[in-house]
Amino acid sequence: MYNVTVNPSAEDLAKATEHELFTYYAAKTSVNPNLEIPSVPPVMDQVLKDTVDKYGDYVAAMAVTDYQGILQNFFVGLVGAKRILEIGSFTGSSAIYFSNALKRNGVKPGPDADGNKPITGLDISEEFTSHARANLDKAGVSDYVNIIVGDARESLTNLIGQTYDIVFIDADKTSYKFYYDTVIKNNMLAKNGLMIVDNTALWGQAHLLQE
Ligand SMILES: C[S@@+](CC[C@H](N)C(=O)[O-])C[C@H]1O[C@@H](n2cnc3c(N)ncnc32)[C@H](O)[C@@H]1O
Repeated sequence: MYNVTVNPSAEDLAKATEHELFTYYAAKTSVNPNLEIPSVPPVMDQVLKDTVDKYGDYVAAMAVTDYQGILQNFFVGLVGAKRILEIGSFTGSSAIYFSNALKRNGVKPGPDADGNKPITGLDISEEFTSHARANLDKAGVSDYVNIIVGDARESLTNLIGQTYDIVFIDADKTSYKFYYDTVIKNNMLAKNGLMIVDNTALWGQAHLLQE
């Protein structure tokens, strides 16, 4: 599937699917010197397959694609991220991409002096979270990620005082404004930090505010 990402010939490119081309060009156009091609961790095929087998295509489509994952890698290198907050972990795909990118940034695994791992994930679902933990284990990056189970509105509020180099918002769309405002108003984004907000145009949901 990723044969087009390593020095593809014109013939390879001509045969590539649209999805393969997205992935290839996302990696190719990156200016991140830490980003190797291909940067899709080998475990991702299995992670996605297990997610589809367990929840079906429709739900599994919530996982970030490899194209998105590569872009996330790029952003981690771009801002030299060391600490990341992910709101909406699902089965762990983006946390695996982020972990690998942090590794490349030289970030060590395990908790810091305050007991925080480099990535904090928030998700409301016990089931998705336990699946995510198993996938993080499989990917060998459990020491990079701590997932807090619960409504992210509450979990995020409990994290006020922490700062992150990247905040990735990818949970319930109607709470996006709350997540965004909470992060900004409470200075949870580090200087030169980056907020990534997924699916802002998804079925118009992100503007269906709860408040
Ligand atoms: C689009 S998925 C996240 C995909 C994930 N970033 C990935 O890479 O696979 C959205 C997730 O948000 C979670 N979620 C929905 N509402 C939530 C809430 N109020 N608080 C926390 N998590 C929530 C869901 O359980 C689901 O796992």
